[in-house]
Amino acid sequence: MHYLWLSVLCALVVITRPLDSAATPFAPNWNNMHTKHRWNAIPGKWESIGQPPVGITIDLRIALKPHCEHALTDAIYEVSNPNHPKHVLFFVPPPTQVTLLRCRYGAYLSKEQVAKLVAPHPYTLEVVEAWLRHHGVSPSNVSTTHGGNWLTVTGVPVSKANELLGASYQLYRYAGTNETILRTVGYALPVALHTHVQTVAPTTYFGSPLTPRERPRGHRVSALSTRDDHVTPAVLRSLYNSVTYQPAATEQNMIGVTGFSGQYVSDEDLELFMALFRSDANDPTFLVIDVNDSGYDPSKPGSEANLDMQYTQGMAWPTPHVFYSMGGVAEEFIPDSFIPVNTNEPFLGWLEVMTRLEDLPQTISTSYGGDEQTFPRDYATSVCELFGQLGARGISVLFASGDEGVGGGDCRKNDGTGVVQFQPGFPATCPWVTSVGGTMRRPEVAAPFSSGGFSNVFKRPIYQTDAVLGFFEQLGKQHAGLYNASSRGFPDVSAQARRFTIIHDNEFMFLRGTSCSTPVVAGIISLLNDYQLSKNRPVLGFLNPWLYGTAIQGFNDITSGSNPGCGTDGFSAVPGWDPVTGLGTPDFQRLLDLLPNPIPTN
Ligand SMILES: *[C@@H]1O[C@H](CO)[C@@H](O)[C@H](O)[C@H]1NC(C)=O
Ligand SMILES: *[C@@H]1O[C@H](CO)[C@@H](O)[C@H](O)[C@H]1NC(C)=O
Ligand SMILES: *[C@@H]1O[C@H](CO)[C@@H](O)[C@H](O)[C@H]1NC(C)=O
Ligand SMILES: *[C@@H]1O[C@H](CO)[C@@H](O)[C@H](O)[C@H]1NC(C)=O
Repeated sequence: MHYLWLSVLCALVVITRPLDSAATPFAPNWNNMHTKHRWNAIPGKWESIGQPPVGITIDLRIALKPHCEHALTDAIYEVSNPNHPKHVLFFVPPPTQVTLLRCRYGAYLSKEQVAKLVAPHPYTLEVVEAWLRHHGVSPSNVSTTHGGNWLTVTGVPVSKANELLGASYQLYRYAGTNETILRTVGYALPVALHTHVQTVAPTTYFGSPLTPRERPRGHRVSALSTRDDHVTPAVLRSLYNSVTYQPAATEQNMIGVTGFSGQYVSDEDLELFMALFRSDANDPTFLVIDVNDSGYDPSKPGSEANLDMQYTQGMAWPTPHVFYSMGGVAEEFIPDSFIPVNTNEPFLGWLEVMTRLEDLPQTISTSYGGDEQTFPRDYATSVCELFGQLGARGISVLFASGDEGVGGGDCRKNDGTGVVQFQPGFPATCPWVTSVGGTMRRPEVAAPFSSGGFSNVFKRPIYQTDAVLGFFEQLGKQHAGLYNASSRGFPDVSAQARRFTIIHDNEFMFLRGTSCSTPVVAGIISLLNDYQLSKNRPVLGFLNPWLYGTAIQGFNDITSGSNPGCGTDGFSAVPGWDPVTGLGTPDFQRLLDLLPNPIPTN
C-alpha cells in the first residue's frame, strides 16, 4: 500500500527577508542582546561550585523555528484524528492497481516528510550562520540534526559560549547525588535572532535525570504471601479484558521501553517472572539498544527497568520488545575525567537518536518525568515538539503522570515569588504524549498519589476541550487560582498502580506508582496495534484524538478517590474525564470494537 503525499502548502510565511537585503550587506547589530531565558535564582537543590577549568569546551544545540509554524501540528491532527475531513489518494497495488481516495487518518509521515515539515526557512539558517561566523566559529564545527531544525555547534570553548549567549556558564552540583553539570542561570541572544531561534541547550535546564522521587517505591520479600490483592499480569489481563487475545502481527509489531539513569533489565529476573506469571510465555526476549554508551549491564538490574519490561511483556507477549538504555552521563566533559560533567539532557539526547532512526517501535513506554517548572519553557516546548514528530510518524508515546498527586514538596513556584501552586509534571503535560495516571483496588478507585492537573506551559489541545470543560462544570470554584484553567489537562488515561509484584534480583518485590500503570497501558495499546496490523490497517499512532473521541466508550470511568497534595485534598475523580484518572482504565475488548478503520473496501 502506498500513500501519495499531498504536499502541505505553507499558508503563512512567517519569516521574510528584509526587502533591502540585496542592496545593503546584511549586518544586524550582533551586540544588541535580549534575554532569552533567565531564572531568578539557582533552581532547587543545585549549587554553584564555580568556573569550569580553562580549556573546557561545550557542544551547543540550537533549535531553529520551523518555516511553517503550524505545519507539524496540522499534520499530526490530520493523521491522528479518525474524524479529520482531510483525504489523500492511495494506491492499491497489483492486481487492482487503482488509486482511491481515503481519509488521511493513519497515513503516517516518513522521517523525511517530517523533516521537510519542520525545516527552518533558508533565511533562518543564513542569519544564524552569519552570527556564528561573526564570532569566529568555524563552519566545520556546525552540523544539523533532527532533520535540519537543530544546529549542533561542537567544541565551543566555554568563554566563547559565554560571549555568544551573554551567559555565565558555571559548574553546578546537585545536593542529593553530587551530579555535576555545566549550566548558566540565564542567557541572551541578539535581537535579530529571537524570531529565528527557539532555544539553545544546554543553558538553563537544571532538571536531573537522577531525581529519586520518580523511582517506584516498594519493598522486597523472599516469599510471596497468601494475600490475594497483589497485582500480577493475570489480574491485569482479566481486569482489562485481554486474556483471550492472541497477538497475530508479531512480524511487524514492536513495543519499546525506555531506561534512563543506569536502569538495566535482568534477563534472568524476566525469565523467572514470566515462568511464574505468564506460564504460556516461553523464552521472553528483548532487544537492547544502548543509546550512547549507557554501560548496559543486565547483572546490575534496576527495579524500575525490571518493572517496566516485566509488565509490558506480561501484557503483550509475544510482541517483540526493544529496550532503549539511555546513558545519563553520556559525554565526558572534562578531558581528564576529574569531574564527571554531563552535557546531555537525556530527553533531548534520546529524542535526537529516536528521530534519526528509520524504524521505530509503534508503541513506546516511559516511566520518567519531573516538575514542569524545572524545565525552561523553550526547552519543554522544543522537546514536546519532538514527541509530536514521533506522533506524526505513527508512534504512540506513553508517559507516567507522576506520583505526587497535585504536587509534591511545598509546591512553591520557583520564579522567586514563592507562590503556592499545583505542580504539574513534564513530559506528561506535553499535548503530544499520552499520560497515564494510577488507580488501585478492585472495583477501581483513584490512587491518591496519581499525579494530575493542568500545565502552565501548554495550551489546552482541541481534542480534550469537551472533556476538560465537563470536568470544570463539576469542579466549580474549588482550587481556583491553584491551577491554570486554560491549559492542557493530564493524565489522559490510567490503570492499576499499586501492589505490583515483580521479580528483582531473584526475589519478589512490590511496587507502586504510575511507573506501574504506564507499561500496562502501553501493553494494551500494543495489542490493539497488533490487531490493526493483522487486518492491514494503520496502527493507532498519536492516540489522544481517538481516545477522547470514539474510544471514550472503551474506558472504565473511575469516579471515586482523589489526588491530595500542596496542603489540599487535590482533585476528585468524577464521572467523565478528571485530572486524577483521565478517561479511566482500558477495556481491551470494548476498545477492539471501537478501532478506526480508515481503509475503504471495494
Ligand atoms: C571545533 O571543534 C574542535 C573539536 O571539538 C575543537 O577543538 C575546536 O576548538 C572547535 N573550533 C571552534 C571554533 O569551535
Ligand atoms: C557528596 O559529596 C559530599 C561532600 O564531598 C559527601 O559527603 C557525600 O557523601 C556525597 N554524596 C553522594 C551521594 O555521593
Ligand atoms: C551520541 O554519540 C554520537 C557519536 O559519538 C554523537 O554524534 C551524538 O551527538 C551523541 N548523542 C547524544 C544524545 O549523546
Ligand atoms: C497558563 O497556561 C498558559 C498555557 O496554556 C500559559 O501561557 C500561561 O503562562 C500560564 N499561566 C501561568 C500563570 O503560568
